Amino acid sequence: MVTMSSNVGLNETTLWPLVRQRLRALCGLVLQEDQAYLLNRLEPVARSLGFPSVPLFLSATLAGGRDDLDSALVESMTTHESSFFRDPVFWETIRTRIGPALAALGRPIRIWSAACSTGQEPYSMAMLLSTHFPNMPFEIWATDIAQDTLARAGSGVFTKVEVERGLTPVQLQKHFDPVKGGFRVVEALRRPIRFDVYNLLGAAHPLRRFDVIFCRNVLVYFDDPSRERVMRRLQDALSPEGWLGLGATELPVKDAVGLKRLADGAGWLECTR
Ligand SMILES: C[S@@+](CC[C@H](N)C(=O)[O-])C[C@H]1O[C@@H](n2cnc3c(N)ncnc32)[C@H](O)[C@@H]1O
Repeated sequence: MVTMSSNVGLNETTLWPLVRQRLRALCGLVLQEDQAYLLNRLEPVARSLGFPSVPLFLSATLAGGRDDLDSALVESMTTHESSFFRDPVFWETIRTRIGPALAALGRPIRIWSAACSTGQEPYSMAMLLSTHFPNMPFEIWATDIAQDTLARAGSGVFTKVEVERGLTPVQLQKHFDPVKGGFRVVEALRRPIRFDVYNLLGAAHPLRRFDVIFCRNVLVYFDDPSRERVMRRLQDALSPEGWLGLGATELPVKDAVGLKRLADGAGWLECTR
Protein backbone atom coordinates (compact mmCIF):
# COMPACT_ATOMS: atom_id res chain seq x y z
CA MET A 1 0.00 0.00 0.00
CA VAL A 2 1.28 3.52 -0.82
CA THR A 3 0.77 6.20 1.82
CA MET A 4 0.99 9.95 1.38
CA SER A 5 4.12 10.00 3.56
CA SER A 6 5.84 7.61 1.15
CA ASN A 7 5.19 9.87 -1.83
CA VAL A 8 8.66 11.35 -2.05
CA GLY A 9 10.39 10.03 -5.17
CA LEU A 10 7.21 8.49 -6.56
CA ASN A 11 6.49 9.26 -10.18
CA GLU A 12 4.45 7.75 -13.02
CA THR A 13 7.13 5.14 -13.76
CA THR A 14 7.51 3.88 -10.21
CA LEU A 15 3.73 3.90 -9.67
CA TRP A 16 2.86 2.12 -12.89
CA PRO A 17 3.26 -1.48 -11.58
CA LEU A 18 0.98 -0.65 -8.63
CA VAL A 19 -1.56 0.99 -10.91
CA ARG A 20 -1.59 -2.11 -13.13
CA GLN A 21 -2.18 -4.33 -10.09
CA ARG A 22 -4.92 -2.06 -8.84
CA LEU A 23 -6.77 -2.04 -12.17
CA ARG A 24 -6.55 -5.80 -12.46
CA ALA A 25 -8.06 -6.18 -9.00
CA LEU A 26 -10.75 -3.53 -9.51
CA CYS A 27 -12.07 -4.50 -12.92
CA GLY A 28 -9.97 -7.26 -14.50
CA LEU A 29 -8.23 -4.87 -16.89
CA VAL A 30 -4.82 -6.17 -17.91
CA LEU A 31 -2.35 -3.51 -19.04
CA GLN A 32 1.22 -4.11 -20.13
CA GLU A 33 4.50 -2.93 -18.60
CA ASP A 34 5.20 -0.67 -21.58
CA GLN A 35 1.84 1.10 -21.48
CA ALA A 36 2.68 3.65 -18.76
CA TYR A 37 2.05 6.38 -21.36
CA LEU A 38 -1.67 5.73 -20.72
CA LEU A 39 -1.26 7.63 -17.46
CA ASN A 40 -1.36 10.82 -19.57
CA ARG A 41 -5.11 10.30 -19.63
CA LEU A 42 -5.21 11.01 -15.92
CA GLU A 43 -3.97 14.59 -16.08
CA PRO A 44 -7.38 16.30 -16.50
CA VAL A 45 -8.95 13.81 -14.07
CA ALA A 46 -6.39 14.51 -11.34
CA ARG A 47 -6.83 18.27 -11.80
CA SER A 48 -10.63 18.10 -11.75
CA LEU A 49 -10.47 16.17 -8.46
CA GLY A 50 -8.18 18.77 -6.89
CA PHE A 51 -4.82 16.97 -7.17
CA PRO A 52 -1.89 19.09 -8.40
CA SER A 53 -0.27 16.12 -10.19
CA VAL A 54 -0.96 12.62 -11.47
CA PRO A 55 1.43 10.97 -8.95
CA LEU A 56 -0.42 12.64 -6.08
CA PHE A 57 -3.76 11.48 -7.46
CA LEU A 58 -2.37 7.96 -7.86
CA SER A 59 -0.88 7.89 -4.37
CA ALA A 60 -4.23 8.86 -2.86
CA THR A 61 -6.01 6.26 -4.99
CA LEU A 62 -3.57 3.48 -4.15
CA ALA A 63 -3.79 4.30 -0.45
CA GLY A 64 -7.32 2.86 -0.68
CA GLY A 65 -10.66 3.77 0.87
CA ARG A 66 -11.72 6.28 -1.80
CA ASP A 67 -14.29 4.68 -4.13
CA ASP A 68 -14.59 7.93 -6.08
CA LEU A 69 -10.86 7.86 -6.95
CA ASP A 70 -10.97 4.15 -7.86
CA SER A 71 -13.92 4.87 -10.06
CA ALA A 72 -12.15 7.79 -11.79
CA LEU A 73 -9.11 5.58 -12.37
CA VAL A 74 -11.17 2.77 -13.92
CA GLU A 75 -13.19 5.22 -16.00
CA SER A 76 -10.05 6.83 -17.45
CA MET A 77 -8.06 3.69 -18.12
CA THR A 78 -10.76 1.54 -19.73
CA THR A 79 -11.70 1.83 -23.39
CA HIS A 80 -15.25 3.04 -24.06
CA GLU A 81 -15.26 2.81 -27.83
CA SER A 82 -18.69 1.88 -29.20
CA SER A 83 -20.97 2.59 -32.15
CA PHE A 84 -24.50 1.89 -33.32
CA PHE A 85 -25.01 -1.54 -34.91
CA ARG A 86 -21.32 -2.29 -34.42
CA ASP A 87 -20.35 -5.29 -36.59
CA PRO A 88 -23.34 -5.44 -38.99
CA VAL A 89 -23.31 -9.26 -39.41
CA PHE A 90 -23.88 -9.61 -35.65
CA TRP A 91 -27.06 -7.51 -35.88
CA GLU A 92 -28.22 -9.16 -39.07
CA THR A 93 -28.13 -12.49 -37.20
CA ILE A 94 -30.53 -11.04 -34.63
CA ARG A 95 -32.90 -9.94 -37.37
CA THR A 96 -32.87 -13.19 -39.32
CA ARG A 97 -32.27 -15.93 -36.74
CA ILE A 98 -32.41 -14.90 -33.10
CA GLY A 99 -35.36 -12.48 -33.28
CA PRO A 100 -37.71 -15.03 -34.90
CA ALA A 101 -36.69 -17.65 -32.29
CA LEU A 102 -37.41 -15.20 -29.48
CA ALA A 103 -40.73 -14.15 -31.01
CA ALA A 104 -41.75 -17.83 -31.13
CA LEU A 105 -41.42 -18.00 -27.32
CA GLY A 106 -44.57 -15.88 -27.15
CA ARG A 107 -43.57 -14.02 -23.98
CA PRO A 108 -41.76 -10.80 -23.02
CA ILE A 109 -38.01 -10.98 -23.68
CA ARG A 110 -35.27 -10.01 -21.23
CA ILE A 111 -31.96 -8.70 -22.52
CA TRP A 112 -28.75 -7.80 -20.68
CA SER A 113 -26.25 -5.49 -22.33
CA ALA A 114 -23.22 -6.02 -20.06
CA ALA A 115 -20.40 -3.46 -20.48
CA CYS A 116 -22.66 -1.25 -22.60
CA SER A 117 -20.35 1.78 -22.45
CA THR A 118 -22.10 4.90 -23.83
CA GLY A 119 -25.24 2.95 -24.73
CA GLN A 120 -25.14 2.46 -28.49
CA GLU A 121 -25.56 -1.31 -28.00
CA PRO A 122 -28.80 -1.35 -25.96
CA TYR A 123 -30.30 1.42 -28.09
CA SER A 124 -29.39 -0.47 -31.29
CA MET A 125 -31.20 -3.50 -29.88
CA ALA A 126 -34.25 -1.42 -28.97
CA MET A 127 -34.33 0.06 -32.50
CA LEU A 128 -33.98 -3.34 -34.14
CA LEU A 129 -36.66 -5.05 -32.07
CA SER A 130 -39.17 -2.20 -32.34
CA THR A 131 -38.69 -2.11 -36.11
CA HIS A 132 -38.63 -5.83 -36.97
CA PHE A 133 -40.54 -7.40 -34.05
CA PRO A 134 -43.00 -4.67 -33.07
CA ASN A 135 -45.31 -7.05 -31.21
CA MET A 136 -42.64 -8.57 -28.98
CA PRO A 137 -42.43 -6.84 -25.57
CA PHE A 138 -38.88 -6.55 -24.24
CA GLU A 139 -36.85 -5.03 -21.44
CA ILE A 140 -33.11 -4.32 -21.43
CA TRP A 141 -30.76 -4.17 -18.45
CA ALA A 142 -27.80 -2.08 -19.57
CA THR A 143 -24.76 -2.11 -17.28
CA ASP A 144 -21.17 -0.91 -17.15
CA ILE A 145 -18.53 -0.45 -14.48
CA ALA A 146 -17.90 3.18 -15.47
CA GLN A 147 -20.30 5.53 -13.75
CA ASP A 148 -19.88 8.69 -15.85
CA THR A 149 -19.97 6.73 -19.08
CA LEU A 150 -23.16 5.06 -17.95
CA ALA A 151 -24.72 8.42 -17.06
CA ARG A 152 -24.09 9.50 -20.65
CA ALA A 153 -25.69 6.29 -21.88
CA GLY A 154 -28.75 6.90 -19.72
CA SER A 155 -29.23 10.41 -21.09
CA GLY A 156 -29.75 8.92 -24.56
CA VAL A 157 -28.06 11.97 -26.11
CA PHE A 158 -25.51 11.46 -28.88
CA THR A 159 -23.46 13.92 -30.92
CA LYS A 160 -23.76 14.30 -34.69
CA VAL A 161 -20.50 12.36 -35.13
CA GLU A 162 -21.79 9.50 -32.96
CA VAL A 163 -25.11 9.12 -34.78
CA GLU A 164 -23.30 9.22 -38.11
CA ARG A 165 -21.41 6.08 -37.04
CA GLY A 166 -23.76 3.19 -37.83
CA LEU A 167 -27.15 4.85 -38.33
CA THR A 168 -28.89 5.57 -41.63
CA PRO A 169 -30.65 8.95 -42.06
CA VAL A 170 -33.97 7.07 -41.93
CA GLN A 171 -33.09 5.45 -38.56
CA LEU A 172 -31.94 8.81 -37.22
CA GLN A 173 -35.17 10.50 -38.19
CA LYS A 174 -37.36 7.69 -36.89
CA HIS A 175 -35.70 6.99 -33.54
CA PHE A 176 -34.17 10.33 -32.42
CA ASP A 177 -35.30 13.85 -31.59
CA PRO A 178 -32.96 16.77 -32.29
CA VAL A 179 -31.80 18.37 -29.02
CA LYS A 180 -29.12 20.86 -27.96
CA GLY A 181 -25.74 19.25 -28.61
CA GLY A 182 -27.03 16.46 -30.85
CA PHE A 183 -29.86 13.95 -30.95
CA ARG A 184 -31.78 12.13 -28.24
CA VAL A 185 -33.23 8.63 -28.49
CA VAL A 186 -37.04 8.86 -28.44
CA GLU A 187 -38.80 8.17 -25.15
CA ALA A 188 -40.46 4.97 -26.41
CA LEU A 189 -37.05 3.37 -26.88
CA ARG A 190 -35.51 4.74 -23.68
CA ARG A 191 -38.40 3.47 -21.53
CA PRO A 192 -37.66 -0.30 -21.72
CA ILE A 193 -33.96 0.21 -20.84
CA ARG A 194 -32.69 0.35 -17.27
CA PHE A 195 -29.09 1.47 -16.66
CA ASP A 196 -27.09 0.28 -13.61
CA VAL A 197 -23.45 0.35 -12.58
CA TYR A 198 -22.28 -3.27 -12.47
CA ASN A 199 -18.82 -4.85 -12.29
CA LEU A 200 -18.67 -8.13 -14.20
CA LEU A 201 -16.01 -9.33 -11.74
CA GLY A 202 -17.71 -7.97 -8.61
CA ALA A 203 -19.34 -10.03 -5.88
CA ALA A 204 -22.97 -9.64 -6.98
CA HIS A 205 -24.42 -12.09 -9.49
CA PRO A 206 -27.46 -11.10 -11.55
CA LEU A 207 -30.63 -12.33 -9.89
CA ARG A 208 -32.55 -12.92 -13.10
CA ARG A 209 -32.10 -14.96 -16.24
CA PHE A 210 -31.86 -13.33 -19.65
CA ASP A 211 -32.88 -14.49 -23.13
CA VAL A 212 -30.12 -12.46 -24.77
CA ILE A 213 -26.85 -11.31 -23.23
CA PHE A 214 -24.41 -9.00 -24.96
CA CYS A 215 -20.88 -8.91 -23.57
CA ARG A 216 -18.85 -7.51 -26.41
CA ASN A 217 -15.41 -6.02 -26.68
CA VAL A 218 -14.60 -6.23 -23.00
CA LEU A 219 -13.36 -9.81 -22.37
CA VAL A 220 -10.50 -9.01 -24.70
CA TYR A 221 -9.02 -6.74 -21.98
CA PHE A 222 -9.07 -9.47 -19.28
CA ASP A 223 -6.62 -12.27 -18.47
CA ASP A 224 -7.68 -15.94 -18.83
CA PRO A 225 -8.90 -16.50 -15.22
CA SER A 226 -11.04 -13.34 -15.28
CA ARG A 227 -12.41 -14.21 -18.71
CA GLU A 228 -13.40 -17.68 -17.48
CA ARG A 229 -15.01 -16.23 -14.36
CA VAL A 230 -17.10 -13.82 -16.41
CA MET A 231 -18.05 -16.53 -18.92
CA ARG A 232 -19.36 -18.72 -16.08
CA ARG A 233 -21.34 -15.80 -14.71
CA LEU A 234 -22.84 -15.01 -18.11
CA GLN A 235 -23.73 -18.63 -18.73
CA ASP A 236 -25.44 -18.89 -15.32
CA ALA A 237 -27.47 -15.80 -16.20
CA LEU A 238 -28.63 -17.17 -19.56
CA SER A 239 -32.11 -18.67 -19.89
CA PRO A 240 -32.31 -22.21 -21.35
CA GLU A 241 -33.50 -20.72 -24.68
CA GLY A 242 -30.91 -17.95 -24.47
CA TRP A 243 -28.32 -16.41 -26.78
CA LEU A 244 -24.95 -15.00 -25.79
CA GLY A 245 -23.31 -12.41 -28.04
CA LEU A 246 -19.56 -11.84 -27.66
CA GLY A 247 -17.13 -9.86 -29.79
CA ALA A 248 -16.13 -11.90 -32.87
CA THR A 249 -12.55 -12.19 -31.56
CA GLU A 250 -13.67 -13.09 -28.03
CA LEU A 251 -15.25 -16.46 -28.72
CA PRO A 252 -13.80 -19.27 -26.59
CA VAL A 253 -11.41 -21.50 -28.55
CA LYS A 254 -13.83 -24.43 -28.31
CA ASP A 255 -17.52 -24.63 -27.51
CA ALA A 256 -18.13 -24.55 -23.75
CA VAL A 257 -20.51 -27.19 -22.37
CA GLY A 258 -24.06 -25.95 -22.98
CA LEU A 259 -23.11 -23.32 -25.56
CA LYS A 260 -22.87 -23.78 -29.31
CA ARG A 261 -21.36 -21.27 -31.70
CA LEU A 262 -23.42 -20.00 -34.62
CA ALA A 263 -21.69 -20.32 -37.96
CA ASP A 264 -22.23 -16.63 -38.79
CA GLY A 265 -18.70 -15.81 -37.60
CA ALA A 266 -20.00 -12.78 -35.73
CA GLY A 267 -19.77 -13.87 -32.08
CA TRP A 268 -23.10 -15.57 -31.27
CA LEU A 269 -23.42 -18.59 -28.98
CA GLU A 270 -26.67 -20.48 -28.56
CA CYS A 271 -27.59 -22.07 -25.24
CA THR A 272 -28.07 -25.83 -25.67
CA ARG A 273 -28.96 -26.84 -22.11
C1 LIG B 1 -14.95 -1.12 -25.59
S1 LIG B 1 -16.34 -0.87 -24.55
C2 LIG B 1 -17.53 -1.96 -25.30
C3 LIG B 1 -18.88 -1.30 -25.50
C4 LIG B 1 -19.90 -2.15 -26.23
N1 LIG B 1 -20.13 -3.41 -25.56
C5 LIG B 1 -19.48 -2.38 -27.66
O1 LIG B 1 -19.03 -3.49 -28.00
O2 LIG B 1 -19.60 -1.46 -28.48
C6 LIG B 1 -15.85 -1.74 -23.08
C7 LIG B 1 -16.63 -1.35 -21.83
O3 LIG B 1 -16.35 -2.33 -20.82
C8 LIG B 1 -16.45 -1.68 -19.57
N2 LIG B 1 -15.80 -2.53 -18.54
C9 LIG B 1 -14.47 -2.76 -18.37
N3 LIG B 1 -14.27 -3.58 -17.33
C10 LIG B 1 -15.50 -3.89 -16.84
C11 LIG B 1 -15.95 -4.71 -15.75
N4 LIG B 1 -15.10 -5.36 -14.97
N5 LIG B 1 -17.29 -4.80 -15.54
C12 LIG B 1 -18.16 -4.13 -16.33
N6 LIG B 1 -17.80 -3.34 -17.36
C13 LIG B 1 -16.47 -3.23 -17.61
C14 LIG B 1 -15.75 -0.35 -19.82
O4 LIG B 1 -16.12 0.60 -18.86
C15 LIG B 1 -16.22 -0.01 -21.25
O5 LIG B 1 -17.30 0.87 -21.24
